[in-house]
Amino acid sequence: MSEQVRNTGTPEQPFLYVVVCAAGVASGVSKLITAAQERGWAVGVFATPVALNGFFDTDAVRAQTGRPIRSAWRRPGEPRPFPDPDAVVVAPATFNTVNKWAAGLADNLALATLCEVSGLGVPVAVLPCVADALASHPAYRESLARLRGMGVRFGDPYAGQGEDGGRPDFAWERALDLVERG
Ligand SMILES: Cc1cc2nc3c(=O)[nH]c(=O)nc-3n(C[C@H](O)[C@H](O)[C@H](O)COP(=O)(O)O)c2cc1C
Repeated sequence: MSEQVRNTGTPEQPFLYVVVCAAGVASGVSKLITAAQERGWAVGVFATPVALNGFFDTDAVRAQTGRPIRSAWRRPGEPRPFPDPDAVVVAPATFNTVNKWAAGLADNLALATLCEVSGLGVPVAVLPCVADALASHPAYRESLARLRGMGVRFGDPYAGQGEDGGRPDFAWERALDLVERG
C-alpha cells in the first residue's frame, strides 16, 4: 500500500472497528483495512486470541493502522486505546465467535466488544467464513437469526472452498458496503 492512501486517523474521521477471527482467510485482512482507509475510515483491529496466533500478519496490520491490535483486556486504570466506533465489521467471522456472540458470551475482548456494540446503535456487519457442514448446525442457524434480529447485517455465506477445490475471493469490501448503507 502506498503512503499516499495510508490513513491512520484524525479526530474528525469516522472510526471503524475490524474484528478478526481465526479463519484461514484472515490472512487477507489487510485488503479490508486498505479499502476502509481509502473510503475515509480510521481503523482499529481487534483479534480473537486464536486469530492472533498466526492467522494474519500482525506486524503489517499494526503498521497499516498505526495502532496496536487489541486482543487482551487492558489493566484497570489504563486508558482505552481506541475511540468509540462509528461502525463495526467482523471479518472473517468464525462459527465459534458467531455462536458465542449470539449467546451473549464475553470471555475474550473481541467477543465482549461485540456484545457491547450491539447496544450502541452503530452499524455492525459480519462476513462469515463457515464451512457448509458447520453452517448446517441448528445452533448456528439460530445464532444468525438472533443476530439479524438485533440488526446485525450479514454478507453472503462463504464456505472457504469453491467447486474446483480452490478458495474463491473473500468479499472484503462487502463489509464496508453493509455498514455504509445507512
Ligand atoms: C488453519 C485453520 C483454518 C480455520 N478456518 C476456519 C474457518 O474458516 N471458519 C471457522 O469457523 N473456523 C475455522 N477454523 C477453526 C477456528 O480457528 C476455531 O474454531 C477457533 O476456536 C475459532 O476461534 P475464534 O472464533 O475465537 O477466532 C480454522 C482453524 C484452523 C487451524
